[in-house]
Amino acid sequence: MTRPITAAVFPVAGRGTRFLPATKASPKEMLPIVDKPLIQYAVEEAIEAGVTRLVFVTGSTKRAIADHFDIDTELEQALTRAGKNDLLRSIQGIVPKGVTCIYIRQGEPLGLGHAVLCARPAVGNEPFFVHLADDLIKGAPGCLTQMANEYREHGGSVVAVETVPPENTSSYGIVAVDAADRNRVTRIVEKPAPAEAPSNSAVVGRYLLMPEIFDKLENTGKGAGGEIQLTDGIADLMDDQPVYAYSFDGIRYDCGSKLGYLQATLAYGLEHPDTGTEFREQVLALADRLRNG
Ligand code: G1P
Repeated sequence: MTRPITAAVFPVAGRGTRFLPATKASPKEMLPIVDKPLIQYAVEEAIEAGVTRLVFVTGSTKRAIADHFDIDTELEQALTRAGKNDLLRSIQGIVPKGVTCIYIRQGEPLGLGHAVLCARPAVGNEPFFVHLADDLIKGAPGCLTQMANEYREHGGSVVAVETVPPENTSSYGIVAVDAADRNRVTRIVEKPAPAEAPSNSAVVGRYLLMPEIFDKLENTGKGAGGEIQLTDGIADLMDDQPVYAYSFDGIRYDCGSKLGYLQATLAYGLEHPDTGTEFREQVLALADRLRNG
């Protein structure tokens, strides 16, 4: 028997140093792709998957995230008076009725595993999602919905994976799987050097975890980079219960890197109803100019 998944944890306390100076005073999760901040894409993906509790594990300089998900009555009235109905609609219902935002502070930057553990009081004894907003995944349905479907098939925890170039293993949690047993994870290692990596199948920022992970994380010591790693907690969980790797259907943009962020902006800008047609012409013209020097 599988259980419904009603909570998603968004670890958003990280400082986003790869994007300085843009992230000096603003959260990296508020960087927009066209006209929506990364964290809104994350929340929409979770709500599509049936989540009703959005748990943000937050830190200093991150107040804009909580403000973004509040109702702004003053702005709504101003847009109503100005007859700007499209804009009004764009700020209404971001968090639908029946969905609750919970903010928990991660008092110390002790790592992703620690951030997830901070969410324990808000999650309770239920399976839950972890979503890293840096990893923007374009998929229909969204990656979390796909993972929930996978979980309903066979139970157990699920991590989303993607093949990466072998030289990039030291940026990810890397898994080895048993293909004969529905891609059950047999090993998971945080950021191994290419020579030590068990494969080049990398965990991306989506997890569906059983609540027993919390007890494991309580006892997970410092790992790679001197931080409490979620990967190490998952490795411990695998001693007791199955964890499966799921190759999602969709395209991932690593919006924690400048290049990935630009790629996402390009892809989403080309599909956006306000910009798509004109942007496409401009991109093609630019490509011509670049080709012809
Ligand atoms: C984190 C995890 C890593 C995972 C990655 C996905 O690393 O620790 O296992 O592969 O997210 O984006 P970070 O990117 O926060 O360094």
